[in-house]
Amino acid sequence: MRQPFVAGNWKMNGSRESVEALLNGMKDAMGSISKTEVAVCPPFVYIPQVAQICAGTSIKWGSQDVSSEKAGAYTGETATSMLNDFDCTYAIVGHSERRTLHGESDEMVAKKSAAAQADGIIPIICIGETLEEREKGITEEVVGRQLNAVIDVIGVQALQKAVIAYEPVWAIGTGMTASPEQAQDVHAYIRKLIADKDAATAEKVQILYGGSVKADNAESLFGMPDIDGGLIGGASLKVEDFMAICRAGDNTAV
Ligand code: 13P
Repeated sequence: MRQPFVAGNWKMNGSRESVEALLNGMKDAMGSISKTEVAVCPPFVYIPQVAQICAGTSIKWGSQDVSSEKAGAYTGETATSMLNDFDCTYAIVGHSERRTLHGESDEMVAKKSAAAQADGIIPIICIGETLEEREKGITEEVVGRQLNAVIDVIGVQALQKAVIAYEPVWAIGTGMTASPEQAQDVHAYIRKLIADKDAATAEKVQILYGGSVKADNAESLFGMPDIDGGLIGGASLKVEDFMAICRAGDNTAV
């Protein structure tokens, strides 16, 4: 069966001091986590600090974005080789905040996923509909389009070396969590879309839910058959909250 996975997306939060305090707190609490893979995705500048503190522990780390290009005149961008210099396991790609605020297209997200995989980094591929799209009844169409754009470039079997994060935009940072049933419906749709192309890949790929996951709703979400864990924003910045969510992963592991 699929291993539960809980990843913290710190977004643009933290300081040298808070990173140290958060990770040391997590390290102290990791003894209580045995089944769930745990990762943190800090802002780029803190990746070396995270790598130093988490080396030799079971906590993995990754970036919040990555360039689709290898090197060169791309001001402000960060290449996969640079992430590898600091032992990143993961790179989040296509987060809705990047799609909306930085105009990232489905094609760009696909290219970033391919670039990450080409250098051995596991992309956490974010997909999800806006409130307007949900109300129009086109949620499946939207997430299907976003995912198919990636599959067209990397191929369906390459999803075995990727993680998918379903993050309904209306649930991100709003406190409006999708109900476990609402999330499960979309996760099942995503897994079926993949199964129609390759059943073995669909069985293996981890599909995380993201959007206002908190300590008190994590277990009911992760308990759903097609929800394999979570991508956590705000609640990943507090040791107790984040570790409680990681324990929900352990409690729902099958
Ligand atoms: P929140 O958990 O703060 O809603 O953020 C979710 C998210 O965007 C994770 O990538």
